[in-house]
Amino acid sequence: MTPLIKVRNLSKRYRSHGREVQALDDVSFTLGERETLALVGPSGSGKSTLSRAITRLITVDGGEICFAGEDWLALKGAELRRKRRYMQMVFQDPLEALNPRATVFSAIVDPIRIHGLAPRARWRQEVSQLLDRVQLPSHLMDRAVHEISGGQRQRVALARALACKPRLIVLDEAVSALDVSLRSHIIDLMIELQREEGLSYLFVSHDLAVVKAMAHRTAVMEAGRIVELGPTQDVIDRPQSNMAKALIAAVPRLIRSRNP
Ligand SMILES: Nc1ncnc2c1ncn2[C@@H]1O[C@H](COP(=O)(O)OP(=O)(O)OP(=O)(O)O)[C@@H](O)[C@H]1O
Ligand SMILES: [Mg+2]
Repeated sequence: MTPLIKVRNLSKRYRSHGREVQALDDVSFTLGERETLALVGPSGSGKSTLSRAITRLITVDGGEICFAGEDWLALKGAELRRKRRYMQMVFQDPLEALNPRATVFSAIVDPIRIHGLAPRARWRQEVSQLLDRVQLPSHLMDRAVHEISGGQRQRVALARALACKPRLIVLDEAVSALDVSLRSHIIDLMIELQREEGLSYLFVSHDLAVVKAMAHRTAVMEAGRIVELGPTQDVIDRPQSNMAKALIAAVPRLIRSRNP
């Protein structure tokens, strides 16, 4: 497996109101091309901090990230803006990334326009194809983002990420807010996109059924550290760390393929 991203000894400390939190403590892992890695762990264990550090939404105190063969943390200015599109992030609340007053069309065409990915004459066609990709009707493009449903908005956020032609999509609880049938629909779609476009996913979820359906490998976080990392089925069937054991014990038996 060719590694797409290599994370080495990443650390991040937050200081607020005189208190210090080691949100990332010496985190290392690799993620391959066409691979899905799930991040699981209790609230406050550092999953969102890791997602945001990798996508460079926050700075880190130490460590290295090699992405597609480049020193990702060293990129800056125009070069960073140009290469940023290869790594997209989809949030639990799509309004974090989408302007609610913008139309669906402009939300999706933004990266195409900014990165010059298609000539203006092709924009509507591109947006229409992307909407089709996430199984939304193309007439939705003229609606405002605040006028569509939460599930539709989540798919618009995914279409916008796909418009960038990324190599990695980081999803932080991106499907958690969706109802069960829509969630499984989006998971199928993401697996299909991975097959067709050769995408990699780093994917935060507290839902082990989703993790089991999507992730080739799973990393378990606790207090800013990765305490266990292995093939998803192994982590679920034979958890090694106390944290993994506790997380698995808390989910319905039907997810586990063997009795513990
Ligand atoms: N901006 C911030 N300022 C100060 N502390 C922060 C900040 N963001 C996160 N933290 C702290 O860093 C630690 C890790 O938080 P993080 O949001 O990464 O956890 P998480 O695993 O994503 O949790 P959840 O499952 O609840 O989303 C927590 O102790 C949190 O309180
Ligand atoms: Mg979080």
